[in-house]
Amino acid sequence: MIANNALEVVVLAAGKGTRMRSALPKVLHDLAGRTMLGHVLHTAAALQPQAVHVVVGHGADVVRERFGDTNVNWVVQEQQLGTGHAVAQALPAVAEAAHVLVLYGDVPLTPVTLLQQCFAAAQAGPALITARMPDPAQLGRIVRSAAGDVERIVEYKDASDAERAIDEINSGILCASADFLRDHLNRLDSDNAQGEYYLTDVIGSAVADGLPVTAVVAEEPLDVAGVNDRVQLAELEREYQARAAVELMRGGATLRDPARIDVRGTVRTGSDCLIDINAVFEGDVVLGNDVTIGPNCVLVDAEIGSGTVVHANTVVEGAHIGERCSIGPFARIRPGSEFAEGVKVGNFVETKKSRLAAGAKANHLAYLGDATIGESVNIGAGTITCNYDGINKHRTEIGDDVFVGTNATLVAPLSLGDGAFVAAGSTVTTRVGDGSLAVGRARQRNIDGWTRPDKRAPTDTDESSRNGS
Ligand code: UD1
Ligand code: MG
Repeated sequence: MIANNALEVVVLAAGKGTRMRSALPKVLHDLAGRTMLGHVLHTAAALQPQAVHVVVGHGADVVRERFGDTNVNWVVQEQQLGTGHAVAQALPAVAEAAHVLVLYGDVPLTPVTLLQQCFAAAQAGPALITARMPDPAQLGRIVRSAAGDVERIVEYKDASDAERAIDEINSGILCASADFLRDHLNRLDSDNAQGEYYLTDVIGSAVADGLPVTAVVAEEPLDVAGVNDRVQLAELEREYQARAAVELMRGGATLRDPARIDVRGTVRTGSDCLIDINAVFEGDVVLGNDVTIGPNCVLVDAEIGSGTVVHANTVVEGAHIGERCSIGPFARIRPGSEFAEGVKVGNFVETKKSRLAAGAKANHLAYLGDATIGESVNIGAGTITCNYDGINKHRTEIGDDVFVGTNATLVAPLSLGDGAFVAAGSTVTTRVGDGSLAVGRARQRNIDGWTRPDKRAPTDTDESSRNGS
């Protein structure tokens, strides 16, 4: 899309959000892994506007800090005197010939296409987005003439019973030329039930001036739904997830239950992936073809190769998993894990900053941290790479075709040559050469005729220690 030189976005985010009952400013509450304001700014950026202004007030510093490196113009509205007043605070920074699109920081699900429609309509005169709702609660109502033209917006608190019965509501999203807003915001008064400067009043004053006003009706009310409390936040979270699930299925993935998946970032899937229930995806996740994700898995910033199966209850974060691997159940694959094809990592295995070459296996109960593990290596149950000496981390280098027996303690820095063999229960502290056997354990001693201790009568000392003295 070509950059919209004529468009500037003003996002209103100064309100307190009392009904969230939260110390966190409302627009910083999380929806699908991103703040609500983050969603709005992401959508705004897709319009490629000339500038984005965010009006902040309550918790302004916290909000600004959270978006420290985002390219937006922060406008502080010291006192929240109403939505009209809020937009007026941003206007001095808006280019003279620009069109202004007003968005709300607590309306996170608006599709870019709907905003483009509103911007296009605003070339003729002020445009707003409305929606029809069976139960519009306290939202502003759209008053139309007998001919069906928009006449004005009435706020719920100022509305008559007849007006409250109107089912078309004001989303709050509006687009108009900066010139128009300068002129009409100047004319606002606060002579209303809330004693505020209502942005919505510019619609009535446009009509009074004979300007054409366009209402773009959103077909899906949730596209323009705002969040006032945590119940509404949860509703929009579910809606977001339902949409993400549909997108995955349309892209060719099978979901065992589209109501039990959470996408808090992006997921790309190849063909014929199968995702079982309660999978959580965060950050950027890429699945190849024929990948199976078992129940209750969490995948964060991970790439999973074709044909790989991630079994139930596995957590994968910051990892590259090759093709035809088998991971889990109950595995924890931590950042910096790189698995080549055909790797098998089973239950209660944890890996971190470790590279496992093709066909390497650690089937049960192991910790592999800061390790390089060669092809076709077998790591026995209970094996630990002792990578940390309390101050520094050290690496363990394991060659190809190494067999590490059960319960080995590999004290890094350490290297095991190709074909080395570590006897079960060994503590290995020095290099094992190619093809050598390392046995690092106390020799077994058997004592014949050993008598077990007898149960003796309790003494005074035993009594007093039992009393805690
Ligand atoms: C507003 C609209 C109403 C619409 C509804 C949709 C007005 C007068 N009313 O009502 O027609 O149906 O939104 O949700 O515009 N804000 C500021 N500074 C202020 C006041 C508000 O930045 O001084 C911000 C809030 O943080 C919020 C947005 O503007 O993001 C809307 O404010 P809010 O108080 O929620 O307006 P509503 O009463 O819901
Ligand atoms: Mg509101």
